[in-house]
Amino acid sequence: MKRSSLFPLRLAALLCTGTVACVGARAGAVAATVRHGAAPSNAQLASPVIEQRVDALLKQMTLEDKIGQLVQYNDQGASAPTTAHGDKALAANPETHTRVDAMALARQGRLGSMLNVIGAEKTRAFQDAALHSRLHIPILFGADVIHGYRTIYPVPLGLAASWDTALVQQLSHMAATEATTAGVKWFYSPMVDISRDARWGRSTEGAGEDPYLGAAMARAYVRGYQGTDLSRPDSVAASVKHFAAYGAAEAGREYNTTDMSDIRLRQVYLPPYKAAVEAGAATMMSSFNALNGVPATANPYLMDEILRKEWGFDGFVVSDYTAVMELTHHGVALDAATATKKALEAGVEVDMMSHFYDTQIPKLLAEHRLSMATVDEAVRRVLRVKFALGLFEHPYAQGTEVTHALPANRPLVRHAAEESFVLLRNAPANGQPVLPLGHGVKSVALIGPLADAANEMQGAWGGAAQAPDVVTLRQALERRMQQHGGRVLFAHGTDVLSDSTAGFDAAVQAARQADVVIMALGESSEMSGEAGSRAHLNLPGNQQQLLEQVAATGKPVVLLVFSGRPLVLDWAARHVPAIMAVWFPGTEAGNALANVLFGDVAPSGKLPMSFPRAVGQEPLYYAQFPTGRPAGDADLSRPPSGGDTRFVSRYIDVPNDALFPFGHGLSYTSFAYSDVRVSRSTLPLAEADRPGARDLVTVTATLTNTGKREGTEVAQLYVRNLGASVEQPVRSLKGFQRVTLKPGESRQVRFELGFPELSFHDVHSRQVVEPTHYTVWVGGSSQAAGSSEFDVR
Ligand code: BGC
Repeated sequence: MKRSSLFPLRLAALLCTGTVACVGARAGAVAATVRHGAAPSNAQLASPVIEQRVDALLKQMTLEDKIGQLVQYNDQGASAPTTAHGDKALAANPETHTRVDAMALARQGRLGSMLNVIGAEKTRAFQDAALHSRLHIPILFGADVIHGYRTIYPVPLGLAASWDTALVQQLSHMAATEATTAGVKWFYSPMVDISRDARWGRSTEGAGEDPYLGAAMARAYVRGYQGTDLSRPDSVAASVKHFAAYGAAEAGREYNTTDMSDIRLRQVYLPPYKAAVEAGAATMMSSFNALNGVPATANPYLMDEILRKEWGFDGFVVSDYTAVMELTHHGVALDAATATKKALEAGVEVDMMSHFYDTQIPKLLAEHRLSMATVDEAVRRVLRVKFALGLFEHPYAQGTEVTHALPANRPLVRHAAEESFVLLRNAPANGQPVLPLGHGVKSVALIGPLADAANEMQGAWGGAAQAPDVVTLRQALERRMQQHGGRVLFAHGTDVLSDSTAGFDAAVQAARQADVVIMALGESSEMSGEAGSRAHLNLPGNQQQLLEQVAATGKPVVLLVFSGRPLVLDWAARHVPAIMAVWFPGTEAGNALANVLFGDVAPSGKLPMSFPRAVGQEPLYYAQFPTGRPAGDADLSRPPSGGDTRFVSRYIDVPNDALFPFGHGLSYTSFAYSDVRVSRSTLPLAEADRPGARDLVTVTATLTNTGKREGTEVAQLYVRNLGASVEQPVRSLKGFQRVTLKPGESRQVRFELGFPELSFHDVHSRQVVEPTHYTVWVGGSSQAAGSSEFDVR
């Protein structure tokens, strides 16, 4: 037997022989060990057994052992941190500039967690080292598994377009089962930052602009990763990021400052993080940005007041990459010690890559600038998660290592990709909607830089995915056309970012010879994701020019838009009959696209983020607030209609509304909504204004498939209340469901409204229901028309 495989057994024995107690914790002892007097509230972490094991282990730990649990490095160790200009004290600090040897630290038991160490062999080597250390505390391996480990599904923004939480849960579990075979037990996911500004590149990593949809997705990811039992060998701990309000970076510029009212923070930005905590998320990651002048990584209001005290979070918080060091760049700490103190005391337990906690905590303690209790509390939280994960029992990779996309997982990721596509427009060409492509199509011109780009299909954060596993659109289309005796005329056309027109002629020639043209245009995967902010949201390079030249052939064109964010597609919306947003679809990109293009599967995706008419509209979101001078309708969704058209809240050069609004998405069939009703016309305030109140008003509507084929619609419920003490959005999503109907079939959709849906935050940051007038809409987008009303009195 190999030495390493002995360790789990030896360790388990050790843990139950008195060195670290296994059973019998007193309930009182548990409560006493948790800060703020509250017992752990996270069902998966709240075990008396775990608390007693933590206590026993803590007692044996030296200061060095403890600090070790609070530091995190990758397998390269840490490089010297970059210092802010003029930060002489930091630059001159020799300790923070010592190179770290991660393996040596692991051997000494001074490395609590590692990031992005990929592969079972590597994680095993580090784990072996840690388990040989004095206390045998296993390392927790974290990784950026964002939308799949080896078998890749659509980027999170695309996945959100499915509005299918059961699917997200299934995929997340799939990713966990793959990654745990390589020893990864912790995902830096889900990213639940609300993004209302398409310029922000990380929009691709989240669920878009809406807190209700965002919260639903957040829950689904956490449940999928952690399961109902975190200690199962195929469960991983979630790290919900980036806490908080990172997506509100000013001007959409990455890492930029964020400033907002407490009402907006609580109403719009916090709900997905809170939902994730309520779903049992074991860890959180602090964000890079400052919120109202205080960097999130040193923000006690966020970490301590809200996360720990209000929400009862009892897992741990990891900083983002070198974010503790970056407190010096923010200018709120002049030296490494102060940065460490601020972050740790705010409630950031683990230092990712700054090389500050390990060098500064001893000094801070010696100088009495930090209490041992703060250090112990941080260590306790880390150990609590490690015990809950069962890491002491199974510290190594589990089962057969997954090293490539798994055939068994392909159908699921293909299905996910199909559900993520949003058909934005499908106008007739030659009397018929262009999509789906009929069997009469004998030749297809496939044009564009993303038609055959395997690597790009994996999007930002492709995990440990490998490009050769990807099926491109070209491959899938050629196979399918061959089966039907047809042909594909492929032309690359241009690169994503190019000004060369050398490939244009071949593209135009291909289009002229074909029955129909499919253009695969958009962004490269690296144009979104971290540090992928853009000031322009058009098709990059000269792709727009290519599109115009190909469209000028008069052939019917289908535009597939690959992107990690909404783009400005105003020209295409006027000149191209069929447009589909396809994001970055993952390993099965080509097969999923072919299935939808040919109508084996009807599109059902709905936009999780508004597509603007012009960049100048950003940040753009449907849940706008009213103004004293509304343009047109009170809901701002339509251009001015009579009356004053100048001194109203509008642009003089572009309408207010989105080109393609939140919630929009077509199918190959059509749907109609009728009979939107509420179960009661008045609701007593005393009944409604209770946090536990549920199912107070039932909203129903009849949904009918009015087309000729089966299809799936996402029925959406929007709510507005008028007359509150604080102005409320013109409408807010408060429910949704996916409904599959046969042609001609009708079904009643039902939504329940209770305190969570009817309440809002007042000027005192209290979540309340006030006596107001409510309007509800049920329909297929944020512009749903059918409505009903009731009052809270
Ligand atoms: C990103 C995080 C990521 C971390 C570790 C940071 O730059 O902001 O989202 O989890 O790196 O790779």
